[in-house]
Amino acid sequence: MKTWSLAAAALLACGPAAAQFKSPDDAVEYRQGALAVMGHHFGRIGAMASGKAPFDAKAAQADADLVLTLSRLPWSAFVEGSDKGDTSAKPEVWSQPDKFKAASAKFQDAVVKLSATAAKATRADDLKAAFGATADTCKSCHDDFRKKH
Ligand code: HEC
Repeated sequence: MKTWSLAAAALLACGPAAAQFKSPDDAVEYRQGALAVMGHHFGRIGAMASGKAPFDAKAAQADADLVLTLSRLPWSAFVEGSDKGDTSAKPEVWSQPDKFKAASAKFQDAVVKLSATAAKATRADDLKAAFGATADTCKSCHDDFRKKH
């Protein structure tokens, strides 16, 4: 029985992304939650990089690790039908899926570099370039795919 339920869990995990959400609203909530928490930890790194917060190597690495983990989550939650409701996503997310995917891939590459940089940073200045490069990928995706408020 145990083997069976593990196999079922594996099948579910590999199933279409939409099947992982109860409804489109649920997917919107999920991705916004992931993006908000990611933005929070990314902001903490930015505060250190810009000298607004004291540099703390351990904290920088922990924040970068969280950003790395969270950076993988939002994209599978842009499911069909979740372009409506309480979302700031532009219709282009669904009409230009390849471009959206490329933007998320570029961003994830930048985050991998940021996390490698944070792992060996010994002062705030060490974080600056990798933080800035990552922030550029956030902005460029937001310019194309997120509605302005
Ligand atoms: C590939 C595109 C893309 C990238 C890269 C990206 N975002 Fe976003 N972001 C979006 C979209 C689209 C939304 C709107 C989501 C929605 O409302 O459904 C969003 C929304 C957000 C939100 C608002 C979440 C909420 O509470 O509703 C924050 C905060 C955010 N992004 C931060 C960031 C930060 C920080 C980065 C970079 C470290 C980043 N994003 C990178 C596309 C992206």
